[in-house]
Amino acid sequence: MSNAPHIDVDSFWLPHASSTLAEGTDQAFYFIYYVCVGFFVLVVGAMVYFAMKYKRKSDDERTNPIDHNFRLEVVWSAVPAALLVYMFIIGIRGYANASVAPNDAMQVKVTGQMYNWSFEYPDGTVTQELYVPMGKPVKLLMSSKDVIHSFFVPEFRVKQDVVPGMFSTLWFTATREMDTAVECAEYCGDGHSKMLTEVHVFSPQKFDDFYANGFEDPAHPNPPEVRGQKKYEALCVSCHTTDGTRLVGPSFANVWGRSEKLEDGSSVVVDENYVRQSILEPQAKIVATYPHSMPSFAGQLKDKDIDGIIAFLKAQKK
Ligand code: CUA
Repeated sequence: MSNAPHIDVDSFWLPHASSTLAEGTDQAFYFIYYVCVGFFVLVVGAMVYFAMKYKRKSDDERTNPIDHNFRLEVVWSAVPAALLVYMFIIGIRGYANASVAPNDAMQVKVTGQMYNWSFEYPDGTVTQELYVPMGKPVKLLMSSKDVIHSFFVPEFRVKQDVVPGMFSTLWFTATREMDTAVECAEYCGDGHSKMLTEVHVFSPQKFDDFYANGFEDPAHPNPPEVRGQKKYEALCVSCHTTDGTRLVGPSFANVWGRSEKLEDGSSVVVDENYVRQSILEPQAKIVATYPHSMPSFAGQLKDKDIDGIIAFLKAQKK
């Protein structure tokens, strides 16, 4: 993540409206808001006015006994009822619209975990920030690896719980090119407030260029070891450390050029071919004493990514 993501704000109450869902949400918000302000002024104003007008002026003053006024009661029941029905209609319309993604939406898988987000595109590219094309619907299929998080993009007016053991969905169509914040909106632990990332909205043409490049700026591609480090942080870090600690798989500390003993007693030197084979066919040569639990990344990592990981591993030599 670059700098702290920011949110454009152009009114007192709400951030800039940057998705097609925002207009309906904002209309509902402002309708309810102005109804509340209107009734506040009406009720409190009448209260103050009556308190002054009917203040008891002498000890023997009494008001007339009034039991009811049919016309007044109909008005104060029917008018609020009509307003509430209208609020329900605009609410359910917006809710239904936000619940069902268009059929042609691009689907991105979102994974929340303490304390970061990751995004997997249809071609297997995994990123730590979300990239979307302007003017095209995007559907997010979301799940959590640990506790309940909540995916929230204030400028898009979308928020949805991200729950372990099930998928939740959310969709939007961004309406302008920009960068804005993704927040976690469900308290999930002491890193909750840092569970931030960014959405980058590109023109469709720019999006296609970046997508074809694994979301690196085609004009300024990352050096291989930076690309490798990003892939490492996204895909490898939960099983392979860089500080020598043993997790599910061997640590990458000083791994380059090391001679590893395999299960069958033979040994292999960690070089380009071994790393490449271990990524694409992990079961082929398992280092002795480690479990057969690594999945293949064939199809998910491009050749450029594997070259990047090789460069990153070379850099782990201390
Ligand atoms: Cu994740 Cu709060």
